[in-house]
Amino acid sequence: MKNYSIPRSMEWIGGIDGHLRLLDQTLLPIDVCFLDCMDITTVHEAIRSLRVRGAPAIGITAAMGVLVGLKNIPSGTSLKKHYEDTDSYLRTSRPTAVNLFWALDRMKRKFIEIADLPDQRNILSILLDEALLIEKEDRAMCQSIGKIGANLVQDGFGILTHCNTGGLATAAYGTALSVIFTAYEQGKSIHVFCDETRPLMQGARLTSWELLQAGIPATLICDSMAAQVMKEGKINMVIVGADRIAANGDSANKIGTYGLSVLAHAHKIPFYVAAPSSTFDLTLKDGSGIPIEQRNPREITEPFGKQVAPTGVSVYNPAFDVSPAHLITGIITEKSLITPVNAKNIKNSL
Ligand code: MRU
Repeated sequence: MKNYSIPRSMEWIGGIDGHLRLLDQTLLPIDVCFLDCMDITTVHEAIRSLRVRGAPAIGITAAMGVLVGLKNIPSGTSLKKHYEDTDSYLRTSRPTAVNLFWALDRMKRKFIEIADLPDQRNILSILLDEALLIEKEDRAMCQSIGKIGANLVQDGFGILTHCNTGGLATAAYGTALSVIFTAYEQGKSIHVFCDETRPLMQGARLTSWELLQAGIPATLICDSMAAQVMKEGKINMVIVGADRIAANGDSANKIGTYGLSVLAHAHKIPFYVAAPSSTFDLTLKDGSGIPIEQRNPREITEPFGKQVAPTGVSVYNPAFDVSPAHLITGIITEKSLITPVNAKNIKNSL
């Protein structure tokens, strides 16, 4: 791949007295700026405001965020009580991506295992190792998703993707974009169509930036153009990421994804979801139980600070939707391609 290198979305700087550094994705692609998180409120705000975003990246950030929180223990509070407070607070940052809760559950299990050790610094050191392991494992999972998914990509394919699922949304490489990067690295000639992804423009701002950095031929389109490019025969496969996948395969992803799954079905185009196993929520039988984040109406009426709708207009702004399992051709995980998508195949392959 042509000099593909983007800054890391998150990085732990230093040892247990260190801090979390985030790439501020709200400023991309114009400015590459970093945010040093010294307290838990800054971490929470960064997740809430999408300075760091994408399901796996949110999970890794939360795991490191625990360490940021534990650095500042109020006097008179026990470590156990402070851990509880930090954990509960981070859980309120965003509701849909299950990776957030998956990572916090994993950190909590580790804490419970070691909470009675006599040396507090030793506890922090073990927790930091766990957070760094989550990051390292995510990198490996993304690489593996890329390899498995690239087998589905043929030379000459036009590929439609939505939102941002690249290195910015994960520890590195990405999920759906990792498939695209890997296929390109294998020498396949591909062309990516990238939805701008209203209202926060992750496709325009982030995915097209990552694709440009990688030198992969890509065309940016408005979300409303997807049907037309499919009808024109430009798309051979759709590949997207996920924020939470229920036990039956119903998959929540950025608003607009459900529409793409319907369009792909209507045009007989395969529709794939790429996600690590940390994105599955097997406690939910189907997608009806997935909590959908509702965001500030101003993201629609005043995108990026410019008013585009009349003051007082009523707005609906769900950040995610759910594509039903029956419209998903396959789910690519770090372990295998799950197809057909159903509860039995998912259970057997995780
Ligand atoms: O609101 P965002 O930008 O966090 O939404 C991100 C997405 O919907 C991604 O497609 C999903 O998290 C998968 S990221 C590998």
